[in-house]
Formats: sequence, structure tokens, C-alpha cells
Amino acid sequence: MARVDVIRVKGGARLAGDVRVGGAKNSALKLMAVALLAEGRSVVSNVPRITDIAIMAEVLRRLGCDVTLEGTEAIIDVPAEPGSEADYDLVRRLRASICVLGPLLARRGYVRVALPGGDMIGSRGLDMHVSGLARMGAEISGEHGFVIASAPAGLRGAKIWLDFPSVGATENILMAAVLAKGVTEIDNAAREPEIVDICNMLVEMGAKIEGAGSSTLIVEGVEALKPVRHETIGDRIVGGTWAFASVMTRGDVTVHGVRPEFLDIALDKLVTAGARVEPGDNRFRVVMADRPRGVDIVTLPYPGFATDLLPMALGLAAVAEGSSLITENIFDGRFMFVNEMVRLGADIRTDGHHAVVNGRDRLSGAPVRATDIRAGAGLVIAGLCADGVTEVGEVHHIDRGYPDFVSDLENLGVEVERTDVPEPTFDF
Ligand code: EPU
Repeated sequence: MARVDVIRVKGGARLAGDVRVGGAKNSALKLMAVALLAEGRSVVSNVPRITDIAIMAEVLRRLGCDVTLEGTEAIIDVPAEPGSEADYDLVRRLRASICVLGPLLARRGYVRVALPGGDMIGSRGLDMHVSGLARMGAEISGEHGFVIASAPAGLRGAKIWLDFPSVGATENILMAAVLAKGVTEIDNAAREPEIVDICNMLVEMGAKIEGAGSSTLIVEGVEALKPVRHETIGDRIVGGTWAFASVMTRGDVTVHGVRPEFLDIALDKLVTAGARVEPGDNRFRVVMADRPRGVDIVTLPYPGFATDLLPMALGLAAVAEGSSLITENIFDGRFMFVNEMVRLGADIRTDGHHAVVNGRDRLSGAPVRATDIRAGAGLVIAGLCADGVTEVGEVHHIDRGYPDFVSDLENLGVEVERTDVPEPTFDF
């Protein structure tokens, strides 16, 4: 019987052409939560058409919002008093729904959000979210699998040092601080372009924020915010995936819709591997004539090399000339999919957070399984450099981050086919 939920690719393709990338998943999801901070209708445009956005829409609906997803717009009507509870059923399907914690606490003074639980890429704690909000005066407890936060007298500004520039903790604290009394300073804040995007939307809504894109965010709380229309930035991880795919297949791909400066280090690594990169205005071209050379890569918080591109970095190393040392510093479980890469013939040995990869001229097509969004995309791309057909199973993971993955591959010249699952339960 044929396996369902799989993408099959024929190896040996050379990717060539243009690919348009939509809005960043990790921005759009949070921008939808930002809308909770103001009563009335906000519109987030350039949202990617992916399952996670549909789940986030459902989270907001259950909080009493009227949400419509139309094309690439999320239209969110927020009531005067949104609900204050996000249940396990949705939070377990979308870990990012934890980002309603900050805004709801700020608006309602009470919130109960299910704990998201474990994840295939690592343990992913919430201690920094919790201790940051506690510094602002919230009382936080956990029971029956929920985080319960209350601030009956309102939140007040505080100085918060993050142990690590956590993206999610920075966002939750930021979204709480914009409506708190007084000034909040977040030190060692995350600097990702998605954080800057969130700050930009908040400022358009009337928030007072300084330092967006730096390690210190200074937020002066205001009484109320107003709804706005905001356009999501392009998805640098999807753009980066195509850049790596171009180099691995000795291709010539122009990526549209992503600012190349969001990928500075990644593109520089590709140049070290032998590629030619031509940056443009909200687009870039990546051309590769020969077999790539091995490059050492270390993942770090932005502006370091993004952990979400680690599977692509391993794929590149697996087909490059020579050996590469790849180091993961963000998620303890990110190497869990390496066994699948090894099934494709990659010569990878891991030890703790390091992987030593000896490049092979060609991988060898095999059935493998996606374990998360990025691993899934990385395996399909690696399959392009394999002899024969590679069949990647459980590709619903890929749907969570790449809206048009199969048709994009086709348009770039890949022989690809998908056998689908009858799973999606949310409509656009
Ligand atoms: N961490 C803690 N305690 C905390 C918060 C984080 O220990 O209170 C740890 C985590 O366990 C992890 C590390 O810090 O090991 C980084 O976590 P961070 O909070 O920075 O990441 P996140 O907000 O959970 C977002 C993206 C991820 C992306 C990371 C890093 C969203 C929805 N997710 O996760 O994206 O890898 O930042 O850039 O924004 C993906 O899109 O596939 C994805 C996993």
C-alpha cells in the first residue's frame, strides 16, 4: 500500500529560476497575538498560508475574537474583553500560542494558558517568560498542566535581564510591557528581525519602544493601544532554505520577498562554500557552478547563523568537498533527525552539540521521515542530491512552515510528487 503524507523527489535536479517567499511564520503568528492588545479590527497582511496560522486564528477565536483569513490577510476583530484561557488542545498543536500569555495578562490581568509540553527539537522551557512577567508584578503558578498568571493591580515596569536572548520570552515580556505602568527595560533581548517586526507593529499601535533590533529594549507603558494594519516581513528561513538548495544542487535561484541582510551570515557561508550571491532590494540570487566546499557553521541567536537553517547546513556539508564541523547552540534536540540524513548516505557523526560531516559526492535516495518543519525541508533538499528517488514521510511537518513547497520545487525544475493526507481541519 502506498504511504500517505509523503513527498517523493527525484535526485539529480539542478534548481533554477525564481521563487517568491511569503511572510515570516514566526513574525505573523506573534503579530496576530499583538492584535489582542487593542480593541477593534487589526489586519495583519502577508501572512503565510500554513497550518500554524490557521491554528493561531482558532486560538484567537476561542478568546472571543472574530478572525477571518482571506488570501494572505488575517483580519482580527478583538472584543473589549477578550477571553483569558488557551486550552491544551490548541497549544499542544501550536507551541507558539504561548505568546498570548503576555498580551492577555496585560489586557485582562489574568490568564490561563496550557503548557505546550515537549518538542522534537528539544525541551524548550518557559522559565524566562515566567520570571520576566513575575518581575513586572505578576503572580504565576502552574497547575493541572496550565500556567496561570494574574496581576490584579496591573503590571508595572521593571528591569529584566534575560539569561539568554530567548525569542519567545522577549516577545511575551515586550507585549506585556507596552501596557504596563512605567518603564520596562529588557536586557539581553532577542534581536531577530521578527522581534523588530513586532516592535514596529506595536509602535504603529501607539506603543513607546526604543532599541528594537538591539539587545536592550526600553518600553514605556501606555494606557491603551489602537488597532492597525501591518505587513509581515518576508520569511528569512524559507528564503535561506532555497539559498542552500541552490548551492547544493549547483543551481541558479533568485529568491524574492526576503531582505538579504536578514541572512547575512548564512549567505556569507554560502560564498565561502563557493557560491556567487547577488543581493538586491528584497531579493537575492544564489548561483553555484561547482561542487560546494565544506564550511564550519555555528548556530547562534540573531545575527548569528539561524538554528532553523541547521538541517540545510548539514545537507550542504553532506554533499560538500571535505569535512565540516557544524555546531548547534540553541536546541538540545536539533540533531535528532541526523539518523534520517544518515539513511540518505550522509557521513555524519554527532557528539553533544557538534556534528562532524564528511562530504560525499552523491547521497543515495531512501525512504526517510520528517521530524519537524526544518528537518523535513532539509531532507527533501538533501534528496535532490541523491541517486534515485527519496521519499520523505510525515511531511505535514513541512506544511507548518513552507506554504507552497511542492509547487515551488516543481517551478524550480524538480520532479516531485506528493501523496496527501486527509488531515487539515482548518479552512482558509
Ligand atoms: N529557553 C529556555 N527558557 C525560556 C525560553 C527559552 O530555556 O524561558 C530555551 C529553549 O529551550 C531553547 C532556547 O532557549 O533551547 C531558545 O528558545 P527561544 O525562546 O529563543 O525560541 P522560541 O521562541 O521557542 C523561536 C522560533 C523557533 C526558532 C527559535 C530560535 C517561533 C514560533 N519559534 O522559538 O522556530 O528556532 O525562536 O530562533 O517563533 C521553527 O520555526 O521551526 C522554529 C522552531
